Amino acid sequence: MCGIVGYVGARRAAPLLLDALKRLEYRGYDSAGIATVFKKLHVKKDKGRIHEIDRKLKLADLPGNVGIAHTRWATHGKPSRANAHPHLDSSGKVAVVHNGIIENYLELRQFLRKHGHRFVSETDTEVIPNLISYFMHQGKNLERSIRETTKRLKGSYAMAIACVEEPDKIIVVRKESPLILGIGNGEAFLASDIPAVLSHTKRILVLENGEMAVLTPAKISIKRIASGAVVKRKPMVVTWTAEMAEKMGYPHFTLKEIFQQPDAVRDTLRAATGELEKLVKLLLKAERIYIIACGTSYHAALVCKYALAKLADMSVEAVISSEFQESCRVDGKTVILAITQSGETADTLKAVQVAKAGGAKVACLTNAVGSSITRESNIVCHIYAGPEVSVVATKTFAAQVAYLLLLAIHLARERSLPKSKADELIKRLGGISDAMRAVLTGVEPQVKKLARRYCSAEHIYLIGRGIGYPLVMEGALKLKEITYIHSEAMPAGELKHGTLALIDQGTPVIAVVPPGESRVRMAGNVEEAKARGATVIAVAEEGDDMKGHVDEFIPIPPTEELFSPLLYIIPLQLLAYHITVELGQDPDRPRSLAKSVTVE
Ligand code: F6R
Repeated sequence: MCGIVGYVGARRAAPLLLDALKRLEYRGYDSAGIATVFKKLHVKKDKGRIHEIDRKLKLADLPGNVGIAHTRWATHGKPSRANAHPHLDSSGKVAVVHNGIIENYLELRQFLRKHGHRFVSETDTEVIPNLISYFMHQGKNLERSIRETTKRLKGSYAMAIACVEEPDKIIVVRKESPLILGIGNGEAFLASDIPAVLSHTKRILVLENGEMAVLTPAKISIKRIASGAVVKRKPMVVTWTAEMAEKMGYPHFTLKEIFQQPDAVRDTLRAATGELEKLVKLLLKAERIYIIACGTSYHAALVCKYALAKLADMSVEAVISSEFQESCRVDGKTVILAITQSGETADTLKAVQVAKAGGAKVACLTNAVGSSITRESNIVCHIYAGPEVSVVATKTFAAQVAYLLLLAIHLARERSLPKSKADELIKRLGGISDAMRAVLTGVEPQVKKLARRYCSAEHIYLIGRGIGYPLVMEGALKLKEITYIHSEAMPAGELKHGTLALIDQGTPVIAVVPPGESRVRMAGNVEEAKARGATVIAVAEEGDDMKGHVDEFIPIPPTEELFSPLLYIIPLQLLAYHITVELGQDPDRPRSLAKSVTVE
């Protein structure tokens, strides 16, 4: 996730863009840059936080009344000056800022190199200005060249383009990544999000998928990219404060990030290519595999363990990082997969160092390009969840799980799963984001009611089996972290071995019952709890006849067992969030917790 902004009008662009970038920094903050048009393109960019870059380069000094800018959260290529946006074509006439992922950039690079274009960055974005200038060299104007370019791009993008040959305008294009336009008096703005422009205008146009717009000081004209047909749209007048806008109208970052999960999953699955293949090869050669992680990342590791056992017939150990050196042995044939969204968790870094000292090879899965874990790893894999502001992990969990499920399918295909079956599963996993969206909107009203009913509970128990077990662990962790209610997750079969003694009249028990062969045994465990007087809330497939046996039933649309974590975790996250709000607590700032735990 990155932030883009742009301005055309009568005022100097650079100071406005700098201010707007600062307001978008929550979308990414490893590098930033501005390009303005004044007789030629003027560019200042570097790695680092915006205020640091500004101190060094004086970003606001750039001349001109037209400009585009970017704050980056690295995806392709480490944070560096060369990889920072804006990117220019090799002739220095076209500048582009881009938020999204170009999947076919390697093949486009090859094509453009053959036509004399040179590349100076490792990014996917750099192909865009070069492709545009390739078409401009054929005599097409900027708009036409951009339309030709978009026909050849695979992936997602919100981008803004400035060009010295048509200096009074900016053109923007949108496919999937967000983009809004702001209408001023004799000026126009563009941005990834509303907060960036809110201090200048409240009149906003939201650009839809498959649309482009030409911004000049006098007007904004929107067209369909494919047909060129003009789109008429009335601006909306936004009444949010800047803080509300940063949360995109959600009352808290936690809720915003829960609702961003479908996008995080989609982007992660889309971007997983070369690094995933390397990881598959490494794991296939290993004699022993440990997946190490803490907290929420550990729960994703457990999902991976179950998926590998079921689908790829592989046995791996998922280990809590801080326990690794106490119980695990490594040698030269051991592979460690370290999962850490921040890439800075001290316990995980320590475990990795111990494993390396024993001769193990290390791969990591992280959300933070260039973080400490990436420097310790032989293979670096990324999720593409964008910065997670809330202390509690939600969208990074979904993105980790999506990546790990994809990994399991690839490993299974290399071992025994027929290729056609694996391809079918990959295709269906690609469609899971839509199902997640349906669950998010479908279950929230019911979960809100449940939150009102259970916010005064002293204890909540959660039970699950198989792939459902890591989910209840994750649900219990969310409840503990932000509601402060004691919550305990149990493998459902283990309840009768002790914890059942704590369950009596009215004790809330949440049973997570994904589809699959463990469903029948879960039904037995639900009866056990009911027999002790528990109030059972079941999260199960819609139409399941368990509905008639429990106190509350949260229906989830049908999906395969393997993908169920991505849908079944949603009501648990929402329940923790809404109970917290009912209790008058702040879900974004839980007591005693930090986002990155950099001490052992
Ligand atoms: C839970 C949470 C923590 C982290 C844990 C590991 O909501 O945020 O449990 O999951 O501290 O963090 P990373 O993934 O950064 O290593």
